[in-house]
Amino acid sequence: MTRAYAPFPACRPRRLRQARWARDLVRETELTVRDLIWPIFVVEGEDRAEPVASMPGVARLSVDRAVKAVEEAAKLGIPAIEIFPNTEERLKTTSCEEAWNPDNLVCRATRAIKKAVPEIGVMLDVALDPYNADGHDGLVRNGRILNDETLECLVRQTLAQAEAGADILGPSDMMDGRVAAMRGALEGAGFHDVTIMSYAAKYASCFFSPFRDAVGSGGALKGDKQTYQMDPGNTDEALRETAMDLAEGADMVMVKPGMPYLDIVSRVKREFGAPVFAYQVSGEYAMIKAAALNGWLDGERAMMESLRAFKRAGCDGVLTYFAPEAARLLRG
Ligand code: PBG
Repeated sequence: MTRAYAPFPACRPRRLRQARWARDLVRETELTVRDLIWPIFVVEGEDRAEPVASMPGVARLSVDRAVKAVEEAAKLGIPAIEIFPNTEERLKTTSCEEAWNPDNLVCRATRAIKKAVPEIGVMLDVALDPYNADGHDGLVRNGRILNDETLECLVRQTLAQAEAGADILGPSDMMDGRVAAMRGALEGAGFHDVTIMSYAAKYASCFFSPFRDAVGSGGALKGDKQTYQMDPGNTDEALRETAMDLAEGADMVMVKPGMPYLDIVSRVKREFGAPVFAYQVSGEYAMIKAAALNGWLDGERAMMESLRAFKRAGCDGVLTYFAPEAARLLRG
């Protein structure tokens, strides 16, 4: 790009900032309701909403309440949601078979939501942690996270979730080869149109801890996820991971967490030109909420500024717990 500018005072950048109309005309990126994916948490029971202590404003909802919440989201124009289950402790095992039970909580929630709100896209994670007595995203044997054995479980989970009506599957486990295994299984079973949004660059981050409270996977977790999630110091590795996932059949890719990794979003978008999303994770949400509740930040402005940053960095959309709140503001 040629950048030839007259020197001051012929060039005064402030001229274009003097009025709202001018700022509106020259704004380079725009955030809309259509950019938002709303992650929600579901729990067993009826007419229940259990607040998540570390995520003010977020609650685990029973399926009937989740259906109502998603109806509201659809009215606001939110195009898609993601559903995470808070699995009962008694159903967690080291072999994780609840993950592919066709009547598990997340499959029941998916069927109920698709029936009531067929126009909204439903995304589900593919990973074992909500079902694992060991708290990890993969099977654990002798303290090691098994890769290829985990893939067999992820394939079963993929097929159960596709059967339940999921539109988007999000492998969040970071096992090697998962996208190819999932894509092969989906094609083989005739689910040609189920899309995969891979968590392509997912970092071993401290910002996930409120989420682990919400789904109840934190307590069981021994050790950390550094043998499968990425080292926060790496960029080139994120590009290799993304290249692999796209080559294996991912339709969209995701960077996670969001704000601390906007440089990764920007590079992934530039290198691949594929649909790129970021996950503004639980800890990012908690930070903004906590500061706002303390009166240290204007919560609404911090929310909108953080979401706009994702669009500026090159995201096609953002997974955010702020989705309904932001949607209400965006719709005026
Ligand atoms: C599970 C999963 C996690 C998140 C999404 N899917 C947690 C983890 O990997 O430990 C985090 C989401 C958030 O923090 O909001 N594989």
